[in-house]
Amino acid sequence: MRILLLAVVLPVPVLGFPSMKNANPEVLERAAKLADRTTAQYVRRQSIPSDPLGFSASETNCGPTPCLTFDEADQLVSTTGDHAYASPAVDEIRGPCPGLNAAANHGYLPRSGIVSVKEAILGLGAAYNLAPEVSALLAAYAVAVDGNIIEGLWSIGGPLPGDPGVPGLIRNGQGISYSHNNFEGDSSIARFDAYTNNGDAHSLDISKFEAVYAIGGNDTSEDGFGQRYTLDLFRQHREQVQNDAIVSNPYFFTGAFSTLFVVPGAYGFVITLMSNHTAEEPSGYLDGYNFKSFFGISGAPGSFVWNKGQERIPDNWYRRPSTNQYTAVEVAIDVATGYVAYPGSLKIGGNTGTPNSFVGVSVENLTSGVYNAETLFEGDNFACFVFNVAKQGLPDFLQGAASALNNATAFLQQYLSPIISELNCSQLAQYDAGVLNSFPGYHYSPIGPDNNYKK
Ligand code: HEM
Repeated sequence: MRILLLAVVLPVPVLGFPSMKNANPEVLERAAKLADRTTAQYVRRQSIPSDPLGFSASETNCGPTPCLTFDEADQLVSTTGDHAYASPAVDEIRGPCPGLNAAANHGYLPRSGIVSVKEAILGLGAAYNLAPEVSALLAAYAVAVDGNIIEGLWSIGGPLPGDPGVPGLIRNGQGISYSHNNFEGDSSIARFDAYTNNGDAHSLDISKFEAVYAIGGNDTSEDGFGQRYTLDLFRQHREQVQNDAIVSNPYFFTGAFSTLFVVPGAYGFVITLMSNHTAEEPSGYLDGYNFKSFFGISGAPGSFVWNKGQERIPDNWYRRPSTNQYTAVEVAIDVATGYVAYPGSLKIGGNTGTPNSFVGVSVENLTSGVYNAETLFEGDNFACFVFNVAKQGLPDFLQGAASALNNATAFLQQYLSPIISELNCSQLAQYDAGVLNSFPGYHYSPIGPDNNYKK
């Protein structure tokens, strides 16, 4: 992992560095230079780029480490045979995550929608080249908070059928469709905010999709081949979505692992994991056609239709290369880059029960003074902070017997420890969730009706 860290590196100053998105041969050369410079930067452990906006604008669709090679055999993702697309059957579960839904619809994850940690590691590696420790962490968190730790299973949508549950834990087995604030959070790319849709945050809000689709250009044709999406565009858009949520959602809340990390991480996943890679554009590009396919959308802008549970990996689609999997440290770098490039997107706090009543909490208060808004992004601090928040936030979501809570924490810890041990977490990354208690949105935890996208 340390070797990977050196290769992965942290954001760097790129003053005057021209845009690198959607590589061509000339851009590739620059990408190689950037990789060298970022390595040097990492060795100096200088993590805050002096020109964060320039860094964000120059990042390729592969994330902090540009993809410099294309290997057709390695990168083609099969959509035939065992991996042929099939709509979910009536007893098969789908939920809020288009990446998981698409993987299940092609048999990269169990088509039932009920998944183990190992199946997530293998399936998401095969479909997207997501690094094993990221899949393991996300899946283990889903098991610990929304799944069944006895069987080591979780649901990618609504409640696990016949879940025996874990005695003492009231939130167990709901699946990630009903994980508001513990996993799913407000201001998603295209999902509703839970409170504004009667507790349903797993369904797609077509007007939100129309808005995010439009940031990729002016191609209004049904195929959308002319649209282009980048990390930078998505980071700008996230700030806008948060601002829109503040004026429309009386219970808007941000400040837990869900909104601080999972939601912005998902904005990045669209670009870093759903882009198509080619010999001409090895770092990948995302057009409207692929974006719509992964999100289960048909039709042309202005009259889009969401086909729920029908997310699809496009035919002839090439994932990122196996030599450049998307790692946990890179996910953290990409989320952190979004915050430093667009400081307005680092919001902690919430509305107080009416629209536009946002009250912020400082980084100092949330971390008991360990970090402030600047030091949070120095060295490995941000990664140390978010991975600790995942663990320290558990008691707030799992109210039950101490022994059951300890089991859930221990389960998650197995997957978190290898990531945290590779970071330089010199200061104890405190997370004082007590300061969030006054926000009504923090305690809003709608638990499903059984709504597993059955026809
Ligand atoms: C074990 C792995 C994963 C888990 C547990 C997981 C879980 C989730 C959850 C809970 C959400 C809702 C977050 C929100 O409120 O916005 C979500 C959203 C999302 N995820 Fe995943 N995810 C995983 C892997 C992936 C992968 C591999 C991709 C991409 C290929 C992906 C792409 C997305 C996107 C784009 C969204 C936002 C959807 C929207 O707002 O419409 N996820 N995921």
